[in-house]
Amino acid sequence: MAKQIVSLSDRELTESAKTLRSNIDFAGIDTPIRSITITSPEKGDGKTIIACALAMAEALADRKTLLIDNDFRNPQIAPRMHVRGSHRLGEVLNAKVENFMDFCLETKTPNLYVLDVGTRRSDPVEVLSSRKYARLMSTAMQVFDFIVVDTPPLGMFIDAALVAPKTDGVVVVIRSGKDTPESVRSTLSQIEKSNARVIGAVLNGAKRKHSDYYYYYYSSKDHKTKRKSTRRKE
Ligand SMILES: Nc1ncnc2c1ncn2[C@@H]1O[C@H](COP(=O)(O)OP(=O)(O)OP(=O)(O)O)[C@@H](O)[C@H]1O
Ligand SMILES: [Mg+2]
Repeated sequence: MAKQIVSLSDRELTESAKTLRSNIDFAGIDTPIRSITITSPEKGDGKTIIACALAMAEALADRKTLLIDNDFRNPQIAPRMHVRGSHRLGEVLNAKVENFMDFCLETKTPNLYVLDVGTRRSDPVEVLSSRKYARLMSTAMQVFDFIVVDTPPLGMFIDAALVAPKTDGVVVVIRSGKDTPESVRSTLSQIEKSNARVIGAVLNGAKRKHSDYYYYYYSSKDHKTKRKSTRRKE
């Protein structure tokens, strides 16, 4: 497990996350994007690793950033970010702006905090559809400059479609050579049906000379996908 930690020594990932951050900024040129849901079609596509890397890139760009673990079934953010400490879900859902920081775990990266919402005992659909959860998100937005939400795969659970409309946009992680076009289409369609905005996609694991992580811009208007490679110039 320790090997899976997103570390700043992973230069490719760090550089790609910076590019992803710039592209998210660019997509929000008219209406700034301050919160992102990360999801993918299937298990193991790289959502958590990319959520951590994006949150780090935002924090290192001097934005007070919150990384929310919304994977109730398999919460991985806290161990990967080396943070510990859990609060009862009920307490977190009742947090106010004044005491919100009491629930956020400080990481080693300046400006980066983790909120562990998930608890295997609660029903994610009930929690994520609740008014209290919507209030939690708006409270978090008042305290933080940028929020990244990690979710379980949309091909298996509806959770991401419940969270996505409460954020400014969605980045879909597609694992190269693993996710099928059908599963990607179905994921995009579920997000659109939830009235959330798909901002782009990361093609994860494509073997190229310089980087395993590529950012794609997805336009929900024309359903075309254009590549904005993170590949550095050779
Ligand atoms: N580009 C990559 N190159 C090599 N390993 C990768 C890459 N992306 C992800 N991994 C590895 O694949 C595994 C799954 O990654 P991760 O946990 O981020 O996926 P996930 O989509 O969050 O999974 P889950 O659906 O179970 O939450 C991890 O071991 C991670 O380190
Ligand atoms: Mg994950």
